[in-house]
Amino acid sequence: MTDPKFIHVSVAWPYANGDLHVGHLAGAYLPADIFARYHRMKGNHVLMVSGSDSHGTPISVEADKRGISARQVFEHYHERFLQTQQKIGISYDLFTHTDTESHHQVSQDFFLKLLENGCLYKERQQLMYSEQEKRFLPDRYVEGECYICHYANARGDQCDNCGNLLEATQLINPRNRNNPTDKLIVRESEHFFLDLGRFEPQLLEYLGKHEAQWRANVVRFSRNFVAGGLQGRPITRDIDWGVSVPLEGWDDKKLYVWFEAVIGYFSASVEWARNIGQPDAWKQWWYNPQAEIYNFIGKDNIPFHTIIWQAELLGVDGLYNSDEDTIGQRVEAPLQLPYDVPANEFMNIEGDKFSKSRNWAIWLPDILERYQPDAIRYYTAATFPESADSDFAWEGFFNRVNGELLAAWGNLANRMLSFAYKRFEGKVPLVNLADLTDEDKAILARSEDAFEVIGKLLDGVKLKEALVTAMTLVRDTNAYLDRRAPWKTIKENPADAALAVYTVLRVIDNLKVLLSPYLPFTSQKVHEFLGYDGQLFGDLNIVEYSEASRSHKALVYDGRPAIGKWEKSALQPGQALREPAPLIVKLEPEIIEQERSKLGQPREERAIE
Ligand code: MF3
Ligand code: ZN
Repeated sequence: MTDPKFIHVSVAWPYANGDLHVGHLAGAYLPADIFARYHRMKGNHVLMVSGSDSHGTPISVEADKRGISARQVFEHYHERFLQTQQKIGISYDLFTHTDTESHHQVSQDFFLKLLENGCLYKERQQLMYSEQEKRFLPDRYVEGECYICHYANARGDQCDNCGNLLEATQLINPRNRNNPTDKLIVRESEHFFLDLGRFEPQLLEYLGKHEAQWRANVVRFSRNFVAGGLQGRPITRDIDWGVSVPLEGWDDKKLYVWFEAVIGYFSASVEWARNIGQPDAWKQWWYNPQAEIYNFIGKDNIPFHTIIWQAELLGVDGLYNSDEDTIGQRVEAPLQLPYDVPANEFMNIEGDKFSKSRNWAIWLPDILERYQPDAIRYYTAATFPESADSDFAWEGFFNRVNGELLAAWGNLANRMLSFAYKRFEGKVPLVNLADLTDEDKAILARSEDAFEVIGKLLDGVKLKEALVTAMTLVRDTNAYLDRRAPWKTIKENPADAALAVYTVLRVIDNLKVLLSPYLPFTSQKVHEFLGYDGQLFGDLNIVEYSEASRSHKALVYDGRPAIGKWEKSALQPGQALREPAPLIVKLEPEIIEQERSKLGQPREERAIE
């Protein structure tokens, strides 16, 4: 047994300006959840955090559109994020949001420490100013032609086509996205900049150390970003919704959302530790050079997680190095940088890019009303965009759920559990293990070796390949079973049938664990049908926490009830089974057209009161 590892799973914070969709799930949340569940089963110390990104212009744009406040928008979607992710089982130790007092405070501490350490400088900036609205326009309100790839509808902050971060004032033919007749002028405003250039040697050393293990697209993007020259980046904005700049005379500006949102990985860890009554507990990850911090994100977030967040972490050396600091603790060690940033590419929908405005989207709250969480999880994981964009197609969903999840895995478990339950008096057949045939032993050994094989793939965040490997084992088990055909041999040779049934139940017991990070709900059922008590995983609860001036709800994984282990089965002959029921609901072919016809149609938007 090796010592348990400390694994931090940092998951991109979704903007709370709309519901979660399958792109979110495929890009970051499901990979993070699978990874976290696996490591918990391995006995490692997992801390998985994220929350609603409550600031930034995406929220303001939505608020303007609906004629309500930014706070109303983010609170509405935050609440829905909690419910949606609870339903589909994304097991955050803490899913909070960025409008907590604690996050505001930690973000301001980061800012002040960076300032003290000489990593920030002030500069007058040329910005887009709206004559009609009498204010500086946030980058996202400005659209125009990308000056790098010439895509026509680039945003002021980033181009959705080439992925490059942009300067709004350099866009070709800039316009106000809400008001095409608006006259935009360039005006000066003073801002703080993060001096990225000073971190170049450290960042190069960091990339060099990790690039053999990182995904190729992440390395390529990050290398290009550095090679393009590390210019200072403004970290304050002329907006009124966000974290205040903790300096006098800066009342009309806020910290830039990307500057503070990434700090959430740290502030949420501190919040989590405080919530569980062990305020020091976060240090086991953030101070521990042996800890591994994984950032699960979509590819549009790469530079913030391989360059800018690293610069912030490197630049706050000495943060909390007094007894009197905000979080009431001394910091004796530098904060750890991410160990891996397994960014996924995009998941398209029926061959076309996700679009909120065209409603070319598959919304999780909607499909969770119609399909089993594990069916959605299975199809999404089987089509993870790990090294290239992938596609969510309803025909594919139908084929894979019925043809793989149900036909291969669901039926294997179901028919053998039912057969044993009916023909062996509700018990695991009483066999003598010494009598197992070579064929029995071979399939058993394969299912046991799979812990090592699949574990290695999961360690390396090769989640799609790990699932394919597990499903190959499922198919081979079905083939074994067809050859052994206990339903035929039970009449003339019941002892031989018993051996085959025992073997298969034990392989199913292994598969239950191997598949559980992907299919936690189904695996729990199999666990119970096999006669075991207890929960493979902990509980996922919605909890309310109060701070001095406000309270907030959060999604919280409570691992205490979990008994699942990444270990091979020791299923005992004679163990009492429970009466099985079907695991996977069969899909009707009509759903393909029904679901397709919803795409691109206006979605009923609930009013926010
Ligand atoms: N809200 C951003 C998005 O949806 C992601 C923020 S990730 C964080 O693209 F680390 F900055 F929080
Ligand atoms: Zn571009």
